[in-house]
Amino acid sequence: MSSTKISMDEIMSAGYEIKAAEKGSWRVYDENNPIPGYFEFDWLSSRFPDLYHEFALSSIGLITKLHTLIDFSEMNVLDVGAGTGRSSIELSKKAKKVYSTDVYSSVIHFGKNEIQRLGIQNIEYTYGDRDNLPFKDSTFDAVVFSWAEPNHIEAYRVLKNNGHLIQMASIPGALCGEITDYLHGTNHHDQKIFLPNYPDAFELQDHSVFSGIPLVDSISVHKFTCLTKYESYEELAAIVGRLYGPKAKKYFIEKKQDTFSWRLEIKIGQVKK
Ligand SMILES: C[S@@+](CC[C@H](N)C(=O)[O-])C[C@H]1O[C@@H](n2cnc3c(N)ncnc32)[C@H](O)[C@@H]1O
Repeated sequence: MSSTKISMDEIMSAGYEIKAAEKGSWRVYDENNPIPGYFEFDWLSSRFPDLYHEFALSSIGLITKLHTLIDFSEMNVLDVGAGTGRSSIELSKKAKKVYSTDVYSSVIHFGKNEIQRLGIQNIEYTYGDRDNLPFKDSTFDAVVFSWAEPNHIEAYRVLKNNGHLIQMASIPGALCGEITDYLHGTNHHDQKIFLPNYPDAFELQDHSVFSGIPLVDSISVHKFTCLTKYESYEELAAIVGRLYGPKAKKYFIEKKQDTFSWRLEIKIGQVKK
């Protein structure tokens, strides 16, 4: 198994041409002497796509919910920051066609393999920077940012009139789901919001939230709780231990808990051109 030791110089100068570390090598690391980039998500997912893919079950929850809000059956959908393919694969189950883009060669390679392995025909995965998307103006019916940094202006450019701009992730301030307060020693969230039967919520926000791009109407915001389930509590503890450190690992080991709960939100706006 290849070593996970890497210098900060190597991280900073790696660019987007990153070779994935050997599958499973993320399991070998010294949690008390973490390597640089320990909590750098893009670096982690590009170096260990298999780790990110195993963890990213909340993306399935997000798209499953999204399918109850929008009918994609006649739509060409662009998934920006598609990573290992979790969001695109779920989108492809209902969309006419999905165009996936990312910048790291390792995750693009991983995602393409996964799409091929599953025999999916309606996804096209290419290199594409969110700040300079390789598509003509007014091409897509929907642009999705699932757990990915958005560029609203660039999304607006490639969307058709009335196209849907969709941004999805955790609710603000709860980036580490149910363990956010526990990890940071804070008390910002009522832990009840992470109970699976906690009610959904809905609100409207104005277009300033999407960098002021012209919209047909307000942005609709849907909040819901999503429970993700892993193979075993030991496996979940290993995954979160690698992503968030030893304190996170201890949480799941002590509770013998094989689920991870998220309070998620989906923001949808229709662009006006
Ligand atoms: C947290 S992952 C989300 C992956 C996927 N959408 C999902 O829901 O599982 C964020 C992704 O954004 C990608 N990313 C980082 N910078 C980017 C850029 N400039 N343009 C496009 N994608 C980028 C990362 O490589 C990573 O795969």
